[in-house]
Amino acid sequence: MDIEKTDIEDIRRNVEEICAPWEGRPGNLIMILHQIQNRYSYVPRRISFEVAKRLSIPLARIYEVITFYNYFKLEPPGKNIVSVCMGTACYLKGAPSLVERLGQELGIKPGESTRDKNFYLQVVRCLGCCGLAPVLTVGQKVYSNVRPEQVPGILAEYRQGAVV
Ligand code: FES
Repeated sequence: MDIEKTDIEDIRRNVEEICAPWEGRPGNLIMILHQIQNRYSYVPRRISFEVAKRLSIPLARIYEVITFYNYFKLEPPGKNIVSVCMGTACYLKGAPSLVERLGQELGIKPGESTRDKNFYLQVVRCLGCCGLAPVLTVGQKVYSNVRPEQVPGILAEYRQGAVV
């Protein structure tokens, strides 16, 4: 869905559908933003603008929350989301060098997508499989005990869309 081409009435309907159940509930802004990101895979500016109007809050308040939590994305993420676990076990077993190698291979930093929108790189907290550290995921697929020299081979699986 191209949000820039979506009719404003459709946007308002979507915003109403997402906001109404959270009316007057504590922490509603974060829950609303979660739902928006689940639906659109990021938080589009046009949606934020309508949410600010709907909740009668300044747009800046929404951006404060989005930029505070690095979970929220301001741009549509690349097709393949590469997540590197930075939980303690993974960190100690070399996750920072995986992030560095991914950055070199893809030419991006965590929180960014490649120009061709094929990859989005992010760091995440413990994925719950610490015995396999260091761990990274591409989409739903988990790669364990990853060494930096394996990174190009892993990315190659997704470069020609040849996901196995
Ligand atoms: S610390 Fe990485 S899976 Fe737990």
